[in-house]
Amino acid sequence: MEENKYSSWKIIKRLLSYYSEKKFSLIFSCMLIVLSTITEISSPIILSNFINNIINNNTFKKKSIILLIIYFTILQILSSLFNYLYNIYFSKLSTDIITELRVNMMKIALQQPMKIFDKKPISSVVTKIVNDTESVKEFYEVIVSSFLKNFTLFTIILTAMFILEWRMALISSIITPIIIIIITIHQYYSKPIIKKIKNSSSKFNNTISEIIKGITIIQQFNQEKNFIKQINIINQSNYINKMNILKIDGLLLRPLLNLISSIILSSIILILHLFPTLIIKISILHTFINYLRNLNEPIITIANQQTILQQAIVSSERIFKFIDSPIQIYGNDTSLLNSGQIKLHNVFFKYPKTKKNILKNININIPDKSCIALVGKTGSGKTTLSNLILGHYTVTQGIIYIDKKPINSLSHKTLRQSIAIVQQEPTILYRNLIKNISLDRKIEKKKIISALKKSQLKELINNLPDGYMSILGQQGNNLSQGEKQLIGIARILVSNPKILIFDEATANIDSESEQKIQKILSSIRKKSTVIIIAHRLSTIIDADMIIVLDKGKVVERGSHEKLIKKKGLYYLMYSYQENKKSL
Ligand SMILES: Nc1ncnc2c1ncn2[C@@H]1O[C@H](COP(=O)(O)OP(=O)(O)OP(=O)(O)O)[C@@H](O)[C@H]1O
Ligand SMILES: [Mg+2]
Repeated sequence: MEENKYSSWKIIKRLLSYYSEKKFSLIFSCMLIVLSTITEISSPIILSNFINNIINNNTFKKKSIILLIIYFTILQILSSLFNYLYNIYFSKLSTDIITELRVNMMKIALQQPMKIFDKKPISSVVTKIVNDTESVKEFYEVIVSSFLKNFTLFTIILTAMFILEWRMALISSIITPIIIIIITIHQYYSKPIIKKIKNSSSKFNNTISEIIKGITIIQQFNQEKNFIKQINIINQSNYINKMNILKIDGLLLRPLLNLISSIILSSIILILHLFPTLIIKISILHTFINYLRNLNEPIITIANQQTILQQAIVSSERIFKFIDSPIQIYGNDTSLLNSGQIKLHNVFFKYPKTKKNILKNININIPDKSCIALVGKTGSGKTTLSNLILGHYTVTQGIIYIDKKPINSLSHKTLRQSIAIVQQEPTILYRNLIKNISLDRKIEKKKIISALKKSQLKELINNLPDGYMSILGQQGNNLSQGEKQLIGIARILVSNPKILIFDEATANIDSESEQKIQKILSSIRKKSTVIIIAHRLSTIIDADMIIVLDKGKVVERGSHEKLIKKKGLYYLMYSYQENKKSL
């Protein structure tokens, strides 16, 4: 059934259905294209009449020459004008559709359940929105546009031929299947080469971006020459393939098509000879020769766009599958939380499409404004537990209450405004510091500056060339790991969340930054419920409660003193770290 829904034909139908709300614009475009084609193909008829006149009267009349020139010029102008209008109008239509599609996809991307990113990298979503829509844009701008143009041209020429002389038209229409056969053969040979060209182009792009990204490493290891050699090899193979395509086109396709046209013309003339009673005016013959030449082109153009069409179908399939994928469902309760109380009751959890329970029978009560530390070996389920509290996943069994309400009754807005996480590596945007904190939320500048101060970022601000207004590098590459985390904290401090989760960075933070974070945490503790996922146990000694996880189960809980006295897993972990320190 899945396959059926995304068959090529269904995808084309779905792509075309985007026109349904723009029917009038589409009809208007079609009218423009018909007008442009009619004006375009009238020239040979006028020329034929002129020739006819000369033959009949055996003289050149000045007046008719002037008239011919005027007619010709007017027709050319009209044809160009209609064509121009058509192109403009149609391009706007396609751009509108693509914009709508992109906005739609962006909305869906922002509502994706977190579990989606367990299976596919974020970059694949970016590729969909950027590259795939670009290829679909070609469907509207190139394929549909040129199909309409060429189909109209073909139909009008053939109709005109039948009106002029139906017997000759009948013979001429034999050309259509022959051209189709020739083009199919041509495509059979050229397709693999086109594919090679595409591959080498993308290889070229990849290599260039690899070089730019890794320029420091390349220089360090003295590999410049090697990379230039690689680029040259790709370029050379691209050149050879392009030459091959030109050869196939120039030596095979064009001569063959011209040969066919000539054969058909000769057979028309031969038939005229065989049936002397069939008198055909020389002017009609002239028009026919003209039209016959033009009859090939539309078919060739349409057929040659097959590769673009295939590409667009593949991209559309990816886009439609993405659009049809389920989005994260949240509850309807939009009221803000009154407290940061959390209760986990008999919670079991396994990740989608996996068998093993990662969390088993978790029962935890976290009072409002308390500070809880989650500790445990790597892989024990600490981050998983925090993901559940954030509402990124739904529990497999059991229930989580936030502020005494089941978590799945809370709306997305409530969850995001009330529960925040300080990420291990926050994303830094290519914007100034203020905007990096506000993230387009409507927050007063004063509040942001105070949050920056509270986040111990004063020193950084003093060192930046333009203070608060300094633009931070892409991915924050001019910031240290510790500074990035402090920015992540400032972002959260401006919004006063009821619950704050802090997934402590393991090794990549220096002791100075760590002290700063400690300071901030102790100031937040009075205002919010704080959950610290700690690796360095020395940082959480004063937590209200320490919860020790092991293989997804809560094995110990209590204050630092209590757990030390117990001499269990926590005691072992703590003394191991202390011993390491004193070494
Ligand atoms: N998205 C996922 N899909 C499937 N399994 C996952 C996923 N994320 C984590 N796991 C598995 O769940 C288990 C718990 O992982 P989790 O990240 O919660 O551990 P952790 O306690 O935070 O570890 P660390 O201290 O290293 O951060 C691990 O066995 C991990 O392999
Ligand atoms: Mg973790």
